[in-house]
Amino acid sequence: MSDAPMFLRSKAIVEPLVDRFFGWMHTVAPVQASMNLAYLQVPMLESYLQSPQVHIAASNNPELRGGFFVNIAEERSDEVRDLLDSIKRDRAAMIRFANAIAEGQELLRVNATGFDLTPLYPKLPPELNGLVELAYDTDNQAAVRFIEPLVYKSPVYMESRQSVQLSLEPGYERPFILSTPRLPSPDVLELPLPFRHDGLKELFMARVRPTSLNALREALEIGDDAQAALLAGLLSEQPSGAPDRHIEAGGRVRYFGHACLVMQSPQAAVVTDPFISADSTAGDRYTLDDLPDFIDLVLITHGHQDHIVLETLLQLRGRIGAVVAPRSSRGNLEDPSIALYLKNLGFPVVEVDDFDEVEIPGGKVVATPFLGEHCDLDIRGKSTYWVEMAGKAMFVGADSSGIDPVLYRYIREHLGQVDLAFLGMECDGASLTWLYQALLTKPVTKKMSDSRKLSGSNAEQAAAIMTELGASEAYVYAMGEEDWLGHVMATTYNDDTYQIKQINEFLTWCSDRGIHAEHLFRQREWRW
Ligand SMILES: [Fe+2]
Ligand SMILES: [Fe+2]
Repeated sequence: MSDAPMFLRSKAIVEPLVDRFFGWMHTVAPVQASMNLAYLQVPMLESYLQSPQVHIAASNNPELRGGFFVNIAEERSDEVRDLLDSIKRDRAAMIRFANAIAEGQELLRVNATGFDLTPLYPKLPPELNGLVELAYDTDNQAAVRFIEPLVYKSPVYMESRQSVQLSLEPGYERPFILSTPRLPSPDVLELPLPFRHDGLKELFMARVRPTSLNALREALEIGDDAQAALLAGLLSEQPSGAPDRHIEAGGRVRYFGHACLVMQSPQAAVVTDPFISADSTAGDRYTLDDLPDFIDLVLITHGHQDHIVLETLLQLRGRIGAVVAPRSSRGNLEDPSIALYLKNLGFPVVEVDDFDEVEIPGGKVVATPFLGEHCDLDIRGKSTYWVEMAGKAMFVGADSSGIDPVLYRYIREHLGQVDLAFLGMECDGASLTWLYQALLTKPVTKKMSDSRKLSGSNAEQAAAIMTELGASEAYVYAMGEEDWLGHVMATTYNDDTYQIKQINEFLTWCSDRGIHAEHLFRQREWRW
């Protein structure tokens, strides 16, 4: 029985955790993870332990949805205290590193006045020695530049922080995960494995290739019988792949919700920003069952937590030709390398710059520039994409905004006219401190923070993009409206919300000009 061929059940989900917090680039990549641990997560746990009721009340207040509060019942506060103690003990090197970064920045603020930086090296905190270079821009603004590949090889990158929780999709919206550590739960299989562990690849490959309980138990290093029983509950004798997950002729695009598009021809498959539901009985969405067995390229548009999503990416490892990742600025505090991050998690990666091309059978992908949506921080790890497949050209615009629509004229001049344009219109995004607070070593005022938002295009900017691209069809997407994203997105819109009004204004603008336009939600299919 334990050697019988088995598949992973359709509804199996994984939650990747670091010290029990949500695992994403800014909590995993060592420089940013250290800053988030020291300046966001530890203070938040301390604040919770001071007054758990305040955190619980705030977590349950719809007005504060998406705020940074710990949503854990008071009777489990001892577990939170244990977690905080273990972080302070076992992650002391990360906390020291974060403090050293803040000191290094302060050293530059006071001493880097345009003169030689060499005398500052001996004054740097020792934790930074060998891992940073100091440099001015041409305007004499000095910054610390991290030699990021070395930081991954230093004691600050601790894979022992990583673990996964495996369970079955519950069928309701999971609680907001960005601020609340996930504690153990009796029906959840918890494995202390680094995300790159081969056993996880074996487990998720069992969606498309049979294995056995015994083989998986060994691959995942499960000695405990109770845990093995939980593992058995994730397996099924039947594969769950949808019969129409591949196509025989022509081309097809399917919208899987949020920023995820699956583009297919008989020869190739390209998936953008995968964030995919496992709720295969909901019936109102495409799920992991609808993915082709092999994906030539996964395109990552940028590093935000709703676009590079480990809970889906880990499910795909082993079935991907390469993940295409935009090149970062190499060492800026605010701009971790997406490629390094993914490589350290065991993914095959192709790193691209603007206008780099990646071939696919019967087509190509071209990286195109991405403007804005990062609170005016110098973040280069972002890209839109031009995809040519089965005779159609598609522009994957993600959250890029139309701050300067002339950019899109260059894209058209360089690449031609696009058939389908996918545009993000989250035009009133969160403010600077919501996402980047832990990285800001100099305080910013609320007014300053609120003036710098994570915003995509409004109606006027989206219209200007369409004018410049000359696309014949426009699809507004990536609005974070689907309920299976709630644990990461925490967005709430209604018909009176600014974003929805702007989308409707844009749709009217399109229809006045004979441009077919839609606001995508949950699922959609194009077939030709
Ligand atoms: Fe974004
Ligand atoms: Fe987004």
